[in-house]
Amino acid sequence: MTLDSDPIWTALPIPAFLLDAEDRIAAINPAAELFMNATIKTLREVPVFDRLAVDAALDEAFSRVRSNHAALFINDVAVSAGMRAPVECNIQIAPMNDQAGHVLLLVSPREIAGRLGRAHSVKTAAKSAIGMAEMLAHEIKNPLAGITGAAQLLSMNLRNGDLELTDLIVAESRRIVKLLDQVEQFGNLSPPNCKAVNIHDILDRARKSALVSYAASMTIQEEYDPSLPPTWADADQLMQVFSNLIRNAAQAAGPGGGTIRLRTFYDLSLRLRHPDGSGVPVPLQVEIVDDGPGLPPDIANDVFEPFVSGRENGTGLGLALVSKIINDHGGWIAVDSVPGRTVFRISLPVAPKPQEDET
Ligand SMILES: Nc1ncnc2c1ncn2[C@@H]1O[C@H](COP(=O)(O)OP(=O)(O)OP(=O)(O)O)[C@@H](O)[C@H]1O
Ligand SMILES: [Mg+2]
Repeated sequence: MTLDSDPIWTALPIPAFLLDAEDRIAAINPAAELFMNATIKTLREVPVFDRLAVDAALDEAFSRVRSNHAALFINDVAVSAGMRAPVECNIQIAPMNDQAGHVLLLVSPREIAGRLGRAHSVKTAAKSAIGMAEMLAHEIKNPLAGITGAAQLLSMNLRNGDLELTDLIVAESRRIVKLLDQVEQFGNLSPPNCKAVNIHDILDRARKSALVSYAASMTIQEEYDPSLPPTWADADQLMQVFSNLIRNAAQAAGPGGGTIRLRTFYDLSLRLRHPDGSGVPVPLQVEIVDDGPGLPPDIANDVFEPFVSGRENGTGLGLALVSKIINDHGGWIAVDSVPGRTVFRISLPVAPKPQEDET
């Protein structure tokens, strides 16, 4: 059987069985050997259903495949090999048109699909955590306004020592309101209103406003590739992205200050993979590089999750917002951080050509 030395057959990560016209095993690939816990030597010519118990009417499926010469898919069936506990699988049966009566049987355990499902549910969990927080934010604001008002009324009849306490109530309440505003802002984010925009204009705006406020102690260098084509983006939302990243870098550097580099360049090799396997190029690269202490190691893998913060008084919403905005733009964000060099890299698509825009 030449199939055993076929590189595609041996590389196929799904258990595959070639069956003859009487449903006897003619060949199995290495993945199937693993699944069956037996080698082809011991399995050749053995009727497949002597070794494989399938919780579905496969006889009928096989005869339909053979008579219609068309492939057939059966999902969610329990398959067990020998003494092993049954595994939930998807089954595909295809006719082998050059070998009369032969069929190809693929058995894909659903473990992999299940794992993908879980990854998805983590994302939705984060989403609902935000939804929950938004609802709470809304509900907490009213009683909080009552508490602040009452404290202010009380303070009118109080002396110094006690006044300090009511001031504390008012100040701390303001802090909570600020936090709640941030949570609400996250929920209110509308879908981006995209136009062709020059990234350098937005970076410039972010740099200038940073230098007169939260990044006053920082040096910000520009390393732009002036030939960069426009990107397809909501300028205000991108401004929020860059401001958040510059602010984080400035906060990490501390009062002593440091240097931030804003880099742009073109890299056509980067593509964003969609779940269906298609790829969209995201060739516009923006890097915000700082020379600060780097991400705290204990949260380094989770900084894009909401409410993950390494700062006292941090809400941990900045990077969650950044990653949501970049996602909504069909872009990609990644971070690479060691002490002395932290790089946030954003990859964005190019704006469509104007003539395509008109149609
Ligand atoms: N450039 C950086 N250098 C070092 N650590 C960083 C940097 N950027 C982010 N971090 C770490 O990642 C954490 C999460 O950042 P994020 O912006 O999401 O939240 P935050 O800054 O703590 O709060 P918020 O932005 O909501 O006020 C920060 O608290 C900080 O510990
Ligand atoms: Mg932040």
